Amino acid sequence: MSNPTKKIIVTGGAGFIGSHVVRRLVTTYPHYEIINLDKLTYAGNLANLKDIETESNYRFVKGDITDAAFITELFTTEKPDAVIHLAAESHVDRSISSPNEFVITNVVGTVNLLNAARGQWQGAYDKHRFYHVSTDEVYGALGDTGMFTEETRYDPHSPYSASKASSDHFVRAYHDTYGLDIVISNCSNNYGSHHFPEKLIPLAINNIRNNRPVPVYGKGENVRDWLWVEDHARAIDVIFHRAASGETYNIGGHNEWTNIDLIQLLCRILDRKLGRAEGESAKLITFVKDRAGHDLRYAIDASKLQRDLGWEPSLQFEEGLEKTVDWYLANEDWLNDVTSGHYQQYYEEQYTKR
Ligand code: NAD
Ligand code: DAU
Repeated sequence: MSNPTKKIIVTGGAGFIGSHVVRRLVTTYPHYEIINLDKLTYAGNLANLKDIETESNYRFVKGDITDAAFITELFTTEKPDAVIHLAAESHVDRSISSPNEFVITNVVGTVNLLNAARGQWQGAYDKHRFYHVSTDEVYGALGDTGMFTEETRYDPHSPYSASKASSDHFVRAYHDTYGLDIVISNCSNNYGSHHFPEKLIPLAINNIRNNRPVPVYGKGENVRDWLWVEDHARAIDVIFHRAASGETYNIGGHNEWTNIDLIQLLCRILDRKLGRAEGESAKLITFVKDRAGHDLRYAIDASKLQRDLGWEPSLQFEEGLEKTVDWYLANEDWLNDVTSGHYQQYYEEQYTKR
């Protein structure tokens, strides 16, 4: 590509959110060069980017952020202007059964990227940016009222959220200690297309369509604040381009649902779309043993992002959920592919013992 105005490494671009971020950047900024760096773990899937893989401003590099030598070499060769870092182990349940992988990928992997960026960008930090994509789970859990703001004290409860909190601290430490230009965003639960069906919404859609039990942890009373993934990608775009160095922004949907209400709504949508009698899919709802350390409620106050940068969610949840269900029903091959092989073993281990 001749004279791109920015070369950006997006880590984890083959995953759920990363693929939406890559698609947005590649299509919105044809003069940028977007490098998707991904290890292609069970959660990474190049089929997520089929529609843009031949674009001239897009490139895929297979690589592991935990491999420090490889990452340093990549930065030396590519000389990126910026990094948008999404690669992570992202599933709370897996972090409960295999915490070490979360420390290695989410903490050590992030520090490897920070070191490579620091080495490559030394003396010109103001011309470069390290954007770290994080989660609202670093703030812990809320009771029945209140919302997480950017000032809320970190209080992570799961190995996943502890590893994300730790990586956030490292990113801020590299800003405070070395002067690296960084931004961090902490987002609530995303939903939409290309979401791996170990997470609640795609798992429920997949099980309902296959007439399999839909596992609801505990009493289904836990609350999550759901945001359409394309709105998250748009927020990342805005923050990446316009936030001041060192800033943190919360991103959320102002859209709280108990898990049981959400699953009931999905059942009604799928009854209609699959031509089933009303109430048929809801018979699949099965209450199972609760998640250990299960955070009761997340809710994001995203007013700083709206005030400073004018971002707000674009889509009502019911509309987004309809679109999401339509995507999974129209992309059964994608679902069947990602739920074959290792997925079955994961599913047995995660759910048959509950
Ligand atoms: P995901 O699990 O769908 O994708 C993660 C991607 O990272 C995969 O493509 C995987 O192959 C890649 N990856 C994992 N380990 C790697 C390694 N060692 N080297 C290179 N690539 C590696 O995750 P997601 O749900 O898209 O989340 C992306 C980011 O956003 C994560 O950092 C997560 O903490 C954060 N986040 C997610 C949500 C959500 O609701 N899913 C909400 C807020 C923040
Ligand atoms: O809040 C942001 C976080 O949202 C992200 O940082 C994580 O990467 C992402 O995985 C997500 O974490 P959650 O734990 O909230 O998402 P999950 O889809 O695993 O679960 C959503 C809720 O549904 C949670 O209260 C647990 C419950 N649940 C989940 C599964 C998989 C069930 O009741 N049954 C299930 O089978």
